Amino acid sequence: MATLELSALTKSFGTAQVLHGIDLAVRDREFVVFVGPSGCGKSTLLRIIAGLEEASAGRILIDGVDVSQAAPVDRGISMVFQSYALYPHLTVFENIAFPLRVARLPEAEVRQKVGRAAEILQLNDKLQLKPGQLSGGQRQRVAIGRSIVRNPKVFLFDEPLSNLDAALRGEMRVELSALQRDLDATMIFVTHDQIEAMTMAHRIVVLNKGRIEQFGTPMELYHHPATRFVATFIGQPNMNLLPATVVGTDKDGLTVDIAGGARMTLPVDFGTAQKGDAVEVGIRPENLRLGKGLSMKLRVLERLGGTAISYGATQTGQKICAALAGDSPVREGEDIGLTFAPQDAHVFDNAGRVMRRLAAPALAA
Ligand SMILES: Nc1ncnc2c1ncn2[C@@H]1O[C@H](COP(=O)(O)OP(=O)(O)O)[C@@H](O)[C@H]1O
Ligand SMILES: [Mg+2]
Repeated sequence: MATLELSALTKSFGTAQVLHGIDLAVRDREFVVFVGPSGCGKSTLLRIIAGLEEASAGRILIDGVDVSQAAPVDRGISMVFQSYALYPHLTVFENIAFPLRVARLPEAEVRQKVGRAAEILQLNDKLQLKPGQLSGGQRQRVAIGRSIVRNPKVFLFDEPLSNLDAALRGEMRVELSALQRDLDATMIFVTHDQIEAMTMAHRIVVLNKGRIEQFGTPMELYHHPATRFVATFIGQPNMNLLPATVVGTDKDGLTVDIAGGARMTLPVDFGTAQKGDAVEVGIRPENLRLGKGLSMKLRVLERLGGTAISYGATQTGQKICAALAGDSPVREGEDIGLTFAPQDAHVFDNAGRVMRRLAAPALAA
């Protein structure tokens, strides 16, 4: 159990800077997920925390102690990788026990620690098998077991589920969330998969090109994305971004003409935006419903049961995705009208920053 603090961390490989001043404070017993596209610097950041890579500048504090110069073994950290490196000739028991054997712990203590890890991970009846006799998910649990027995202050996971098939990934997400609760441990989990981030994290760090775009709870990121990048990265299907032109600004917010037809006043703090400016109106597929406003030709309809995911485009070629009610009376090839509530819109300026929403007006007495 421990806090983790990063301050002004940077990293360059030769002339290429891959981390640009990372500041972050992870709470004791918090489950934090780093999410971002491939190449954004997630693994590098995790390896720097673990001590496997040296930062170019900045500090790392674990439980308030500066470990920036400490050797990996002295940091109280344990890391689980995507490719779980198990020893094929050793049993599950000995694979989990490995770090304890290296530390020459007494046999009784090894049995007790491996036994407890196996219990938590439900591997009790697998201890005498070899890795080759296990499924992918079971192997990944053995790798996690090996990190549990070391009793680290902070667990680090680098895309540990990416090699598993979809059904198993779903199962392992649930198991890891439960594991974090059972161990009451501080965990950092890296993934490029926003579903893993949304489902497991207490708080999510969204990384983009070596910078933190936003740090917040899953629902903060969903409802209040700070940038266009976060808005389109979080949420499934992805948020629609509709080009629009500012036609007016007043106390009620920003009035825009959305390409494809609709004029709307959106309750946002428009800052320095002026008439004629180009903005983007972000609207989540689940916030669109049938009605007058935008018209689109429905190209593909996916009826999932509870929802009907509708893909199409406006006359100006703007692609739109709407998650309509499952029984919506629509058909492929049809022209349909879509509308949304102004307060569900996210407006982005041309730098990709969100315009803060105005507080809902007080109800008249
Ligand atoms: N040892 C290295 N030498 C040079 N460049 C590296 C090295 N490790 C990573 N990089 C570069 O740093 C960037 C971030 O990589 P990485 O942290 O692995 O991203 P992610 O884990 O988010 O996919 C990439 O552009 C990658 O090519
Ligand atoms: Mg990586």
